[in-house]
Amino acid sequence: MNLPQSSFALLYSLRNPVVCVVSFVIMSLGLSRTLAADEFPVVRSFVQQYCVECHDTETKKGGLDLTALKWGLQDAKTFGQWVKVYDRVHDGEMPPKKKTQPPANEAQAFLKNIAEPMIASDREREMREGRATLRRLNRYEYENTLRDLLDAPWLQVSQMLPEDGESHRFNKSGDALDVSHVQMARYLAVADYALRQRWRRTSRDRRPPRCATTRATRRPSPAR
Ligand code: HEC
Repeated sequence: MNLPQSSFALLYSLRNPVVCVVSFVIMSLGLSRTLAADEFPVVRSFVQQYCVECHDTETKKGGLDLTALKWGLQDAKTFGQWVKVYDRVHDGEMPPKKKTQPPANEAQAFLKNIAEPMIASDREREMREGRATLRRLNRYEYENTLRDLLDAPWLQVSQMLPEDGESHRFNKSGDALDVSHVQMARYLAVADYALRQRWRRTSRDRRPPRCATTRATRRPSPAR
């Protein structure tokens, strides 16, 4: 939406009822362009001309119905489908070679019209959620961290911790690394064990340290 133009129109609309209607039309046009890009004439006519023959509700080649595909970039699945559309057209795979090919400038305009809002939406999501889910250390990382902190490269504790979950075969993905009370209790027990191991190696007589509790109290100072 072109803001200066709309505000300008809005200012004048207060004086003139005809301009009021015009300004309303300008503003709502601007709004629908930014909100629903399937209203983008370039995108719609390109899809209509080069795609729907094979990607409408009946034909649905490759399981893709472009007439039903919404422009809802907030939805990860829909976003993924638009990425596929972009890639196939960008790589010249769609429409298929045997079909009438769109002129380069038309394909470029189409790609630009879908890419820009997608990039903006992706950046916005990244700002909001970050690039990855916040996660705990997995058991190998926990072991390495204790080895570093205690200068104990021989320490072996990973097998004492519960097995980590996996997501798409990755054991470092936040989506699969849950934190339960069992996990926390084991973390603490393992840290305790690691400290004792470290101490055994360090102390000459190899005995665990003597435990001592020292209490200090402060008496209230005598009143003068
Ligand atoms: C002549 C028929 C035909 C036309 C026209 C056509 N496609 Fe396709 N499309 C197919 C077929 C067949 C497949 C499945 C085989 C494959 O994936 O290559 C497919 C697959 C796809 C896929 C992958 C779907 C998925 O989920 O894997 C995308 C994306 C796609 N087409 C986009 C488009 C776009 C965008 C256009 C218009 C620019 C277009 N196609 C035009 C026949 C067509």
